[in-house]
Amino acid sequence: MVNLKTKIGELILKNPIMPASGTFSEDLAEVLDLNKLGAHVTKTITEEKRCGNPSPRVCEVSGSMLNSIGIPSKGIEYFIDTVIPFYSQYNVPLIVSISAQTSDGFARICERVSVPGVDAIEVNISCPNIEEDGKAFAMRPSTTQSVMTKLRSATDLPLWAKLSPNTGETIEVAMAAEESGADALVVSNTMLSMAIDIHSRKPKLGNLMGGLSGPSLKPIALRMAYQCAKSVSIPIIGCGGISTVEDIIEYLIAGATAIQVGTATFINPNAMVTLLADLENFLQKQNIQNISDLIGSVRDEDATDDVVFMETAP
Ligand SMILES: Cc1cc2nc3c(=O)[nH]c(=O)nc-3n(C[C@H](O)[C@H](O)[C@H](O)COP(=O)(O)O)c2cc1C
Repeated sequence: MVNLKTKIGELILKNPIMPASGTFSEDLAEVLDLNKLGAHVTKTITEEKRCGNPSPRVCEVSGSMLNSIGIPSKGIEYFIDTVIPFYSQYNVPLIVSISAQTSDGFARICERVSVPGVDAIEVNISCPNIEEDGKAFAMRPSTTQSVMTKLRSATDLPLWAKLSPNTGETIEVAMAAEESGADALVVSNTMLSMAIDIHSRKPKLGNLMGGLSGPSLKPIALRMAYQCAKSVSIPIIGCGGISTVEDIIEYLIAGATAIQVGTATFINPNAMVTLLADLENFLQKQNIQNISDLIGSVRDEDATDDVVFMETAP
């Protein structure tokens, strides 16, 4: 029997597999046993009701996908009255993903979702900061620090900061999040991308650009997870392109304590449960008793710090 238990700060997960925000919803209960997951992560919620972006909102690119969903939201009241009670019926930690366009807005929604039944708050800081130049909070250490500081004083619940692959300052942003009170980092969100229909010459997404997710994102998010694990002492939750058990193992070796699965669920709604069985089999076959034996076990002792912390092409 292998031990799949993992710890994100004080929070104990029975296994390291959880959904990525926005790729998971209550209706998945019809096709998979939600009690099997390590945690539940909700779609990002905003305080106000939002319609989301113009369609088309998704398109396929080789082996991966682009989306510009744009965080449609039924608003905070619906979320508190309906979504939190739904997840409370399961014996699985509930992680609520929040977003806002200002740091005060972030603090307000953070306070409102800090209610019984919620175990941690995932902060989607890959959204525009309209108080400054409209760039996402997670693009810079300074804006990450200011929003995380406000959030820290708005709740006693664990705060997980979700980073963006669009910054060239991954390590500085990760350190700013840790210094201002983040309890874990989710690495990462989608990467800004584009696709054009060569016949109509029109961008394939109604919003022109969108976020790349799926296997093409994995090497980028894995590199970020590795760099973050080397730079901060809070846990890293790996996210980006996970579709096989080998992908999970790679993230754990890079230093992730748990992982999130997104796009793979659109291909196979039962992907997370299949991955869980595959993970158990893999560890048994390899004679690894505890997943904690894998975490951060990357053999990089010959590399210099210059290479590990490089953010430009080698
Ligand atoms: C359709 C779609 C909707 C998403 N919505 C959100 C969201 O609401 N909040 C968020 O933080 N990330 C959102 N994401 C990003 C995912 O949570 C995840 O970070 C990203 O897809 C990378 O993981 P993957 O390659 O396993 O999909 C969304 C991704 C997709 C594909």
